[in-house]
Order: sequence, then structure tokens, then C-alpha cells
Amino acid sequence: MMDLQEMVDELQREAQAAVLAAKDLDALQQLRIKYLGRSGVIREQYKQIGQLPEEDRPLAGQALNKATKMLEKLFDGRTEALTRQAEQDKLAADSVDVTLPGRVPAGGRQHPLLATMDEMIEIFLGLGFVVAEGPEIEDYYHSFEALNYPEFHPAMAEQDTFYITDDILLRSQTSTVQIRAMEQQEPPVRIIVPGRCYRRDTVDATHCHTFYQLEGLLVDEGVTFADLKGTLEIFAQQVYGDRCHVRFRPDFFPFTEPSAELALTCTLCDGKGCRVCSNTGWLEVGGCGQVDPNVLAGVGYDTERYTGYAFGVGIERFAMLRHGIDDIRLLYSGDMRFLAQF
Ligand code: DAH
Repeated sequence: MMDLQEMVDELQREAQAAVLAAKDLDALQQLRIKYLGRSGVIREQYKQIGQLPEEDRPLAGQALNKATKMLEKLFDGRTEALTRQAEQDKLAADSVDVTLPGRVPAGGRQHPLLATMDEMIEIFLGLGFVVAEGPEIEDYYHSFEALNYPEFHPAMAEQDTFYITDDILLRSQTSTVQIRAMEQQEPPVRIIVPGRCYRRDTVDATHCHTFYQLEGLLVDEGVTFADLKGTLEIFAQQVYGDRCHVRFRPDFFPFTEPSAELALTCTLCDGKGCRVCSNTGWLEVGGCGQVDPNVLAGVGYDTERYTGYAFGVGIERFAMLRHGIDDIRLLYSGDMRFLAQF
């Protein structure tokens, strides 16, 4: 009898060690089959009871029952522990480490040229202008004839336009949209026209075959040159601050009379004179003037009743001054090393 008890104890110890060493639920299941299964170790021991003397059998039975209960408890406990462990492992594997630095997506940004354009547009919207647009592929009439260019006028040839046919061309100035806008509405007209223009210019640090202009046109009763001057002065100060002023010098454009060249106080030297303004203290940014009555008459406006002013400036110039860009080609290069700075 003592032998059996010892054997049962030994069996329990061995099973206990094996169960605790089981690494996962599969291994544990194999052990359960080995000890408690239909042809397991315990079952084998029960079969041996028949071989014992009659009087020893009850005690042997009790010992095996106890061992069976004990092993069942042992297996259940370990099953529970391993199940919990498996759940925790899964959670840990699925979890997000919130302390990891984020991956910053390569974000797109507005191009410095268009950002400058938007800023200029904002200022004029604040002054009551609305944005108008027109085609980049234009006809001769809207490009020159309606803008009061006489046939074979040198100013026209000077522009060295990209012609597609004799009559169709890439517009060389946004002034074309003055005509298109006036054809579509009666005065008062208060428009600005941001847009792309093309000229057969040789490309260098300050010229490009493709460039942007911002055109302005105001037509109403009693509009004078003083209104033009005041509007552009306000614009200049909103862009560059109160110390910036406008300068007008006589110029010629077929569609304005009188015409003026528009210059702003050089923002880099505050008007004192520097390399960028060729020591003049002024930067030329475009042209302007009183709309020529011939232009107004051409779109059917009553020239006795209405007068107007117009202006046109290059947007690249503003963008380059604003950011200290010394080569216009950078604006069209698409070079990420340049663009990433803005
Ligand atoms: N269109 C002219 C140019 O491209 C600029 C200009 C001058 C526009 C006078 C105007 C203006 O509206 O009145 O050089």
C-alpha cells in the first residue's frame, strides 16, 4: 500500500512540474491527455487496483481519486493562467506606442508666386474690386485692336508675341481681359485680373517667356487720375507698409491716356538707394493710366458719362522682392530644394 501512495505522490510531483513548465495551451492539452486522458497515466493506475489485495483496494482508490482531483485543479489553474497570458500577449502585440515620434507626411504647400498673388488679390478685394478672368489663348482683336493699338504700331511688335495663327495668340498682357469684362457688363466696373501671360522673351534672371500679371480696371462716373493714385498708394502700403509710396512717371500705352510708369519705394533700402533699385530708391512694378476714351467707345460705353483708370503689375516682381529671390527662373523650376523653403 505504501508503495502505491508513494507512487501517487511521485506522479503528482512530476505532473505538477510538467504543468508549470507548459509554455502554451497546446502543450498543456497534451499533458492533460497524458495524465488524465482515457488511456492516461491515472487511468492505468486505476486498472492496477484489481491486482492489489482486497483490503488495500479502497485506500488505493481514495488515493487515486484525490490525485485525480488535485491534477484537475492543477490543470484548470494553469489553463486559466495561460489563457490570460495569451490575451495579454495579443493586446501587447496590437497596442500602439503613443510615445513614438509621428511620421510627418510630406505636405504640399502653396507656391510662393501664387501665395503672393493671393495676398495682392486680398488687398483689392478689400477695396471693393472683384476678380475677373479671361482666356490665355486670345484673338488679335482683344489683344491689340480693342486696346487701341493702331495697325503696325511698334508697341505691338515690341511685345514679340507667340502667335498660333495670324489671328490667335498667347496673350502677352492681362489688359485683354479689360475688354472682355467691359463687353459683358455696363459700368460701374471694378475688376482685378490675376493671370498668366506669355512673351517671346529671352529667358534670364529677370525675364521669362511665361509670367503673371495683376491687372486692374475701374470705370464709373467721375473717375480721375487722383483715384488711381490713391488706390495704388493704399495698395503699396498694404503690401509693404506705411513708408512705401508710389511714383508716377509719364509713359505710353495705347489703351491709356495719360499713361504712367508705376514705381514703388524700394523696400530693401527704404528708398535710400541700393543695388536692387540701381541706387534710385524706386522699383518699377508696372504701368497704369486713365482709360483711353477710344477703348471705352469700342465696347459701347458712353464716354461723355464714364471715365476710368487701369493698371497692370508683374506678380513675379512682388514675390521676388518679398522673399529676396534673385532669379525669376527659380519660380518656374519646380526645384524642391528651392520650394521647400517656403
Ligand atoms: N499691359 C501693360 C504691360 O503689359 C501694363 C499696363 C500698363 C496695364 C498700363 C494697364 C495700364 O492696365 O493701364 O506692360
